[in-house]
Amino acid sequence: MKKRLGYLGLVPALTLTAMAQVVTWDIEKRATGGSLQRRSKSAFEEIILNEKGRGGYFATVQIGSPGQNMTMQLDTGSSDVWIPHCDATVCKSGLCMLGSFNSSSSKTFYEIGEDEFYVSYIDDKYASGDYFKDRFQIGGNDVQNLTMGLGLKTDITYGLVGVGYATNEASKASKDSPYANLPVAMEQNGLINSIAYSLWLNDLDANTGNILFGGVDMGKFDGPLTKIDVILDEDADKYTEFIVLMSSLTATSPSGTDVLATSESAIEVLLDSGSTLSYLPTELAQAIWKEVGAKYQVSLGMAILPCSHSAHPGHFSFGFAGDGGPTINVTMDELVIDLTNGDPPLLTSGPYAGEYLCAFGIQNYTTGTYVLGDTFLRSAYVVYDLENNQIGLAPTKFNSTETNIVPFPSKGASIPGATAAPVTSTTSPIDSVVDFPMAETTNLKAADGFQDGDSPEESSVLGKANMLPILLPLSISLASAVLLSVRLL
Ligand SMILES: *[C@@H]1O[C@H](CO)[C@@H](O)[C@H](O)[C@H]1NC(C)=O
Ligand SMILES: *[C@@H]1O[C@H](CO)[C@@H](O)[C@H](O)[C@H]1NC(C)=O
Ligand SMILES: *[C@@H]1O[C@H](CO)[C@@H](O)[C@H](O)[C@H]1NC(C)=O
Ligand SMILES: *[C@@H]1O[C@H](CO)[C@@H](O)[C@H](O)[C@H]1NC(C)=O
Ligand SMILES: *[C@@H]1O[C@H](CO)[C@@H](O)[C@H](O)[C@H]1NC(C)=O
Ligand SMILES: *[C@@H]1O[C@H](CO)[C@@H](O)[C@H](O)[C@H]1NC(C)=O
Repeated sequence: MKKRLGYLGLVPALTLTAMAQVVTWDIEKRATGGSLQRRSKSAFEEIILNEKGRGGYFATVQIGSPGQNMTMQLDTGSSDVWIPHCDATVCKSGLCMLGSFNSSSSKTFYEIGEDEFYVSYIDDKYASGDYFKDRFQIGGNDVQNLTMGLGLKTDITYGLVGVGYATNEASKASKDSPYANLPVAMEQNGLINSIAYSLWLNDLDANTGNILFGGVDMGKFDGPLTKIDVILDEDADKYTEFIVLMSSLTATSPSGTDVLATSESAIEVLLDSGSTLSYLPTELAQAIWKEVGAKYQVSLGMAILPCSHSAHPGHFSFGFAGDGGPTINVTMDELVIDLTNGDPPLLTSGPYAGEYLCAFGIQNYTTGTYVLGDTFLRSAYVVYDLENNQIGLAPTKFNSTETNIVPFPSKGASIPGATAAPVTSTTSPIDSVVDFPMAETTNLKAADGFQDGDSPEESSVLGKANMLPILLPLSISLASAVLLSVRLL
């Protein structure tokens, strides 16, 4: 779980369809009842608590017998399913509006590890309690005896459905012998043939997308579906996270094209649906900001820009796995993110006076794993194949109502309909961002087109931003750092 921006709009009923060998789970973008984070070392302390400050992709499941309805957050960046218990203090205070679990009223509840569940997140939120097994229902589909965490003490008001590698589970004991987490258990229960799923987040402006377990929906993408390799965690000698090689970045607008990164400057990036924004090396992020006219605001700790830039022309092409690998284009309207659930802050002075202020979808980070979060992932249809340790990537088809589901035919089968990216064995990630060979940023040919006549002078722009009641969770999210401490099972 990571920081997320809030989204308004509590969306109507969720639907879930099961077909032979695949399970579709519709997810919705929504706000939750959590409160905003204070960035611990921020100079900017006037943060107003916002009941709708956290957002993300949520969907409904049933846990226990009889099934108790829970609306939970989907996260490819973590690997446990856990829910807050109804007796946790936050839930007793009435904050668990999305559902909390009453173990006493489930006839199929088995506690398997008292006091052994503990996770804490990079934002200092945590959950601790027991591991248990119970029935987990996705629509009419049963996963019997799924191992889950029960948050008896937690400051998080809703549960998470982590669908990452079992090797990345919170329990330290799992490092050697992971329990069967949800994707594995679905395969073991015969709901799907292979441990794999496809994620279609859909447009920023759309309320719903879906996750399809066990198959690929050919109706949800355009162009070729290309498979690339997940990068092995060499220290653990295991696949633990969805890290892939990002090997090029190009900016294109009506005024020209700039190559910002090439296979010489390839970096490892984590595909993380649990991260609202994307985080790239500072020098690369700075070149991107320069292209679009975004400005890093020290008081907010992030790059921001006028919301109107969402309508500006231009796109970034992200290339993967070396020359000839798949490319995903991301347009400006997917990269301008609301800072608040209500009216955005209004700029009262500077060249952008009278404009509303938004967050830019690509932020910077200097250490740790770089992240392609929802601001990138919405533009892609992504297949996660945990058996073959491959990722299928294709340009998404926004708002598609077409459905053409092809299940994985058998355990370990290759991603249906996907072709392999050409092997470029010479491409390996650069070791240090200090060595990042930056493209020439003084003469960016695409910048004029991106900014569509905006003044390139940024120095006094947004000078009043720190006076505004910004309602955004400000900390950085990095899934690799999600589990800061873990207790032995
Ligand atoms: C759970 O959700 C289902 C479908 O939305 C609904 O029919 C049912 O009444 C709910 N059950 C409870 C106990 O709220
Ligand atoms: C949990 O279930 C038990 C048994 O059905 C019931 O006595 C108790 O009141 C429930 N607790 C809450 C908080 O609903
Ligand atoms: C679940 O596990 C418990 C304890 O190991 C066992 O008694 C029970 O029969 C199992 N239930 C199912 C449906 O497999
Ligand atoms: C998708 O649907 C949303 C909501 O209806 C709409 O705002 C958006 O413009 C659509 N996107 C595209 C690319 O058609
Ligand atoms: C993506 O952008 C590149 C560079 O502008 C362009 O050549 C390519 O056709 C675009 N691809 C799609 C699917 O739009
Ligand atoms: C992001 O870049 C800004 C300057 O552009 C820098 O001040 C800040 O420390 C960077 N943040 C991180 C997390 O690297």
